[in-house]
Amino acid sequence: MIELNLDWRYATKEFDSAQKLNDQQVHQLVECIRLAPTSYGMQPIHVKVISQQSMKENLREVSFGQSQISDCSHLFVFCIQQNTSEVHVDEYMDRLAKTRKLATEALSGYGGMIKGFLSQQSSAVKDVWAARQAYLCLGFLLHTCALLKIDACPIEGFVPESYDHMLGLTAQGLSSVVVAAVGFRSAEDVTQHQAKVRKSTAEMFDFI
Ligand SMILES: Cc1cc2nc3c(=O)[nH]c(=O)nc-3n(C[C@H](O)[C@H](O)[C@H](O)COP(=O)(O)O)c2cc1C
Repeated sequence: MIELNLDWRYATKEFDSAQKLNDQQVHQLVECIRLAPTSYGMQPIHVKVISQQSMKENLREVSFGQSQISDCSHLFVFCIQQNTSEVHVDEYMDRLAKTRKLATEALSGYGGMIKGFLSQQSSAVKDVWAARQAYLCLGFLLHTCALLKIDACPIEGFVPESYDHMLGLTAQGLSSVVVAAVGFRSAEDVTQHQAKVRKSTAEMFDFI
């Protein structure tokens, strides 16, 4: 049976700032996000991967001082592409046609269906839809980290407007939604020894 390391992983509170991810590890984590499924395959998201120490320290100041932000090896900032619209669908159809060697015309039905869906949503609803895709990618990242015995902490405790400003996201039509600090736990982090608190299977599931 494959070891999933679900008890080993925890939301790391203290990272060992001396330990860094190597290039292969970064590549594997980037790939797990890139290959994650999204609604229609649209991938209405973008990810900033930050290892620059000065930037991590600046971001910590707008993350309620959480030490994970500056002490982790790499900070993954999940952003949504704001107000997904027809131009994004056209870009996707081009990518699809090139990758699968299809005529763009053959995809007009699929593209039209996605455009139809988007046209019925307000910009705010589309941004929530995009954020759901970002969280799904976050889930893929967290579990891939566990499989690779890399530590991570998902983080919502930050000021998105400040991240948007400091990372120049607004100018790129992006906005930050959730963050993951990734690296290696400190031996001093007492949280790693705490028992998991979860609903029981009976409380959480019905098998019908
Ligand atoms: C979306 C999300 C946001 C979170 N934000 C923070 C955060 O800002 N700071 C923090 O220390 N932990 C944060 N956590 C960690 C949770 O508190 C933690 O995952 C939960 O208590 C379960 O513990 P475990 O992950 O160690 O099993 C967040 C978790 C998720 C999924």
